[in-house]
Amino acid sequence: MAATIDYDALLAPDLPPPAPRWKGFAPYNFIGGNVDAASMPVEDMIAATASALRREGTTLATYGLESGPLGYRPLREFVAAKLRKRSGLTVSPDNVLITSGSNQGLDLVNEMFLRPGDTVLVEQFSYGGALARLRKLGATPVGVPLDGGGMRMDLLGEKLAALATEGVKPKFIYVIPTIQNPGGSIMPEARRAELLELSARYGVPVFEDECYADLLWTSERPPAIAAMDESNRVIHCGSFSKTIAPALRVGYIVAEPALIARMVACKTDGGTGALEQMMLAEYCRTRFDAHVGHVTGLLKQKLDAMTGALEEHFGTAAEFVPPEGGIFLWISLPDAVDAMKLSAASAASGIAINPGPEWSADAEPARSRIRLCFGNPTVGDIREGVKKLAEICHREFGIPLRSGNIERA
Ligand SMILES: Cc1ncc(COP(=O)(O)O)c(C=O)c1O
Repeated sequence: MAATIDYDALLAPDLPPPAPRWKGFAPYNFIGGNVDAASMPVEDMIAATASALRREGTTLATYGLESGPLGYRPLREFVAAKLRKRSGLTVSPDNVLITSGSNQGLDLVNEMFLRPGDTVLVEQFSYGGALARLRKLGATPVGVPLDGGGMRMDLLGEKLAALATEGVKPKFIYVIPTIQNPGGSIMPEARRAELLELSARYGVPVFEDECYADLLWTSERPPAIAAMDESNRVIHCGSFSKTIAPALRVGYIVAEPALIARMVACKTDGGTGALEQMMLAEYCRTRFDAHVGHVTGLLKQKLDAMTGALEEHFGTAAEFVPPEGGIFLWISLPDAVDAMKLSAASAASGIAINPGPEWSADAEPARSRIRLCFGNPTVGDIREGVKKLAEICHREFGIPLRSGNIERA
């Protein structure tokens, strides 16, 4: 009998460990960036897909459609129009690259700039997927503390100066300024201007991730940092994952043409899925604003349900600042709570939460923090899940002091 192949001996030694077997979503799903299932505009998506296919379906015969490697031109035109209207950013569709989720945008930027040993400045608490990507490449994410206005510019200045004296020039500053993940803050305009000044002074570009910027409770927001930039210092990315659907895997990246050309050379996937792009362009042209308005209203209701349930079941043990949009609540629990242990214990009871250390440049400051996504669960599941989470937290750590409803004075 022929010997079987010993794949373990052949696999690259630095591969991540195998993913655990998928057991489906937890009954109370507060993880990831999932959105509301009931508001998925299925019928309109079917109609948009059918109409785009009838009109242009034959273009699927070629890689990259007829619009070329940047992506389906009507979608790039929509992105440019949306950015002008909502983010104050004027760009040509020729400076927009459609990506397979904004995660591919992160990968392309990383591939262009980073090699092992490089340094990237990040918000101290930041998107776990971005941090994991940097670490996987052997780059070091250096955290800059945040406050209610996002990354602190005084501390960024200090960090840049300290790194310069060590001869270290960070490759870029990665920020999520408009509905920060996980904290939910919005960086004020003056601070965005300071960030651009620091970027100019130290010659370090800014990578602005605006993945959640369209999900705001109000229409007031400062312009995108890229919109305030006059010297090509900012690379900007965004996504349709949170406004429409994450499973479509469609995002975009905006940068000056020379950089876009570099990214296109790195994007070796044969093009982002064409059907998704065609459907989105068709749908968003007439429906995006109404859909986003509807979804943000629902999200605000879910956030209110979550903050209400936390107050009811955790009392003062759970500290948080309600975000001004988005899908996450970032919660600080007393020091006695080990968030990694809490997430393991709650997962065993069907409640999935994100432990803070996975959303932090250094694990320690987020030791007792958790991130709860209110986008996907129903209001009923939010209430029930938070109640159960409080029971588990009480059982494991004695916090909140008593399980069940917190008595009010
Ligand atoms: C800040 C941020 N950037 C990027 C992404 C990636 O999103 P996608 O690849 O679905 O566009 C996420 C997902 O949660 C995120 O939170």
